[in-house]
Amino acid sequence: AKALRLGIAGLGTVGASVVRLLAKQGNRIAVKTGGAITVSAVSARDPGRDRGVDLTGATWFTDPVELAKSDAIDVFVELIGGDNGPAEASVRAALETGKHVVTANKALLAKHGVELAALAEKNGVCLNYEAAVAGGIPIVKTLRESMAGNDISRVYGILNGTCNYILTRMEAEGLSFGECLADAQRLGYAEADPTFDIEGFDTAHKLAILTSLSFGTRIASDDIYVEGITSITTADIQAADELGYRIKLLGVAQRTETGIEQRVHPTMVPKSSAIARIDGVLNAVAVDGDFVGEIVLAGPGAGGNATASSVVADIADIARGDRSPVLGVPTAELEDYVRARMRLH
Ligand code: HSE
Repeated sequence: AKALRLGIAGLGTVGASVVRLLAKQGNRIAVKTGGAITVSAVSARDPGRDRGVDLTGATWFTDPVELAKSDAIDVFVELIGGDNGPAEASVRAALETGKHVVTANKALLAKHGVELAALAEKNGVCLNYEAAVAGGIPIVKTLRESMAGNDISRVYGILNGTCNYILTRMEAEGLSFGECLADAQRLGYAEADPTFDIEGFDTAHKLAILTSLSFGTRIASDDIYVEGITSITTADIQAADELGYRIKLLGVAQRTETGIEQRVHPTMVPKSSAIARIDGVLNAVAVDGDFVGEIVLAGPGAGGNATASSVVADIADIARGDRSPVLGVPTAELEDYVRARMRLH
């Protein structure tokens, strides 16, 4: 079979891990998907930097939009980040020129997901984003494929590794918020602008995507009540502890009598609950389906290698010829958030 040619834009923590994973596991993946996968082209802000990865044979582009449009690639892998600028422009350019897209960019999808999904549909290509939600946890595939036969009533979880890492270490070691955040940044967990993590917006972006996949509604991220963890002190954590609780930043979406409710805020969870035992950079997502019951997935929610695992799974899906609708149903079938709310009255 013809090789699947990748163009990777962005060689930060995740991008470098994707290149490393493909170098190590490429042969095995080729056996599974029925053809070789090659890194044909790359772009990065600082081409000179030593990333400890072998990029021999890859063509360098300075402009990710030019990379996205290049005839030398079949799949554009967007690992730049940000909900506008080069990330948005290059993803659009790739879809418009008939390239499949794999992205880890939750901010972009939370803002433009439905429009980009429609563009992918129109051009008959994939827009895959497993890595955008809960890092290494396969929650997108779980909702879109494994739970396709269920009516979902609730999805909730710990969706930000940085916040969970901070809360865990503040509790276990009594460290200050600032020290824990600095470590999360050093370990490559935090967003380029960590405000997105600690103010809850990153969790909200991921929740908005999960809500759409769970309930078949248009992505509505502006509609989410968002409160982050910046006001949580070690004293709060200790007080919760004495009452038998731990504090976790949760994203929750559920059907209520008045519609689908989405919210993000620190929550006291009983120490005996499964979610209370999710420590450090781990994330967990719980889903209630009417036939299956509640399922819980847990695993690394951030970090280069865990996120690369999801990026490569998305690439393998494309290589195998999977063509699932981007948001689970064709975009024309997505219900308007407000209509869904009214229908439920
Ligand atoms: N900054 C994010 C987190 C990365 O900490 O969860 C994964 O999306």
